[in-house]
Amino acid sequence: MKFANLLTAALMASAASLGIAGSASAQSNEEVQVLHWWTSGGEAKALSTLKDKLQGEGVAWVDVPVAGGGGEGAMTVLRSRVTAGDPPTASQMLGFDIQDWAEQGVLANLNDVAAAGGWDAAIPEAIQKFSKYEGEWVAAPVNIHSTNWIWVNKAMFDELGLSEPKDWDGLIAALDKIKAAGKTALAHGGQPWQDATIFDSVVMTTGGPDFYQKSMIDLDPEALGSDTMKTVFERMAKLRTYVDDNFSGRDWNLATAMVINGEAGVQIMGDWAKGEFLNAGKQPGTDFLCYRFPGTQGTVTFNTDQFAMFQVGENAQDAQSKLAAAIEDPAFQVSFNTIKGSAPTRTDVSDEAFDACGKKAIADVKEAAEKGTLLGSLAHGHAARAAVKNAMYDVVTAAFNGDYTPEQATQELVTAVAGAQ
Ligand code: BGC
Repeated sequence: MKFANLLTAALMASAASLGIAGSASAQSNEEVQVLHWWTSGGEAKALSTLKDKLQGEGVAWVDVPVAGGGGEGAMTVLRSRVTAGDPPTASQMLGFDIQDWAEQGVLANLNDVAAAGGWDAAIPEAIQKFSKYEGEWVAAPVNIHSTNWIWVNKAMFDELGLSEPKDWDGLIAALDKIKAAGKTALAHGGQPWQDATIFDSVVMTTGGPDFYQKSMIDLDPEALGSDTMKTVFERMAKLRTYVDDNFSGRDWNLATAMVINGEAGVQIMGDWAKGEFLNAGKQPGTDFLCYRFPGTQGTVTFNTDQFAMFQVGENAQDAQSKLAAAIEDPAFQVSFNTIKGSAPTRTDVSDEAFDACGKKAIADVKEAAEKGTLLGSLAHGHAARAAVKNAMYDVVTAAFNGDYTPEQATQELVTAVAGAQ
C-alpha cells in the first residue's frame, strides 16, 4: 500500500474510533465498529446488506474502511490500532491471520452464538480450521471465495470465435488471438497480492492438487525447488506478455472494469470480480463468462472472509453477538453472497437464488470438499502464515516483473520460504 493511502486509512481509522465517521445513528445505544477492506463498488454494495441488517436490529454501524484488495493495508491499520490499545469491535480477517490474533489472546469467544446458530454442522471443516482456535470459535465466516477463476468479456470471445479454454495451451491460444486482434488480452493490476492470485492458479494447473498441497501448504523444499515450479515461473513470465503497459499498481477492480467495458478480454481473479460485473449491471452468460482457470476444474483454491471480535469490554458483547449471528443467518448468507460473488459459507443454504456462476461456485466447492481438493489460497492467507506468504509475494512479484529468470525464481522461493519460517 502506498504511504499516502496508508496515512488516509490510518486517519480514517482514528476518526472512526473517535466517533467522527458519522454512520452511527444517534437513537441507537448499541454499536459495532467494523474494520474491513470492502471499498470497491461491488464489495460496498454487498457490505451494505450487513449494515442494513444490523441497523434493523438496533445496532449502529461505525464503518472503518481501509482500501486495498487482499487486505494488506487493513491488517497494517489493525495492528497499529491494537498496539495503541484501541482495537475495533470487529474486523474482517483471512485464514492464518485469525490464528495469529487468537494466539495473542485478544479475540472474543463466539461459542454461544455458534451453538445457537448450528455453525458446527453447517460450516465446512476446511473453514472451521481457521475460524476456531484450540477448539473455540473465534471468528464468523461470511463466505467462500476462490481464486482459480477467469472472467471473460463474452462479446469479445464471440467476435473472435473463442470458447472456454480447457487447459494451459487453450488459455494461451485464446490470449494470443485477443492480442492479435489489437486488444489487451489480460487485464491485470501489478500489485503483489494480484500477482500472487494468478500464481495460485498457475501452481494448481501446472502441478495439480498434490503439488499445490506440497509446495504451498506443506512448504516442502523439494516441491518448492522442483522443475514443476520452474515451469510455473515460465508460465507466469508468459502471462506477463499479455498485460498492457499501464498494469503496474492498478487496483483489481479497475482491471475488472477493463473486461467489463471491452478494453481487455480476460481477468484472472477471485470471484469478488463477479461483484463488479453485477454492480455494473452485467449478467453472466450474456455479458460475461466465468470459467475455472483452465486445467483446474475439480479443485478450488479458497479464501473465506471472516469477522473476528476483539475483547473491548462487556458493553460491546451484545452487539458483537448480534453481528456474529447476523453473519451466519441463512437468509443473510443468500442476500450477501449473491451480491459479493462468493458461495455461502453455510452448506445448508439453497443455491436457488444464485446465478449460473454462483451455482457453479457452490457445486465446485462441494465437489472439491468431497475429493479433498478444497485447498487454501496462498495469495489470500489460507495456505501459509503471513510471514511465509509475504516472502512468497516478494519472489513472485520480482519474477513477474522480470527481475529473476524462472530458474532463479525457483531457487529464491526455496530460500525465501526457509528464511520466513
Ligand atoms: C477478500 C475479498 C475481497 C478481495 C479484494 C480478498 O482478500 O477475500 O472479499 O473482495 O480481497 O478486495
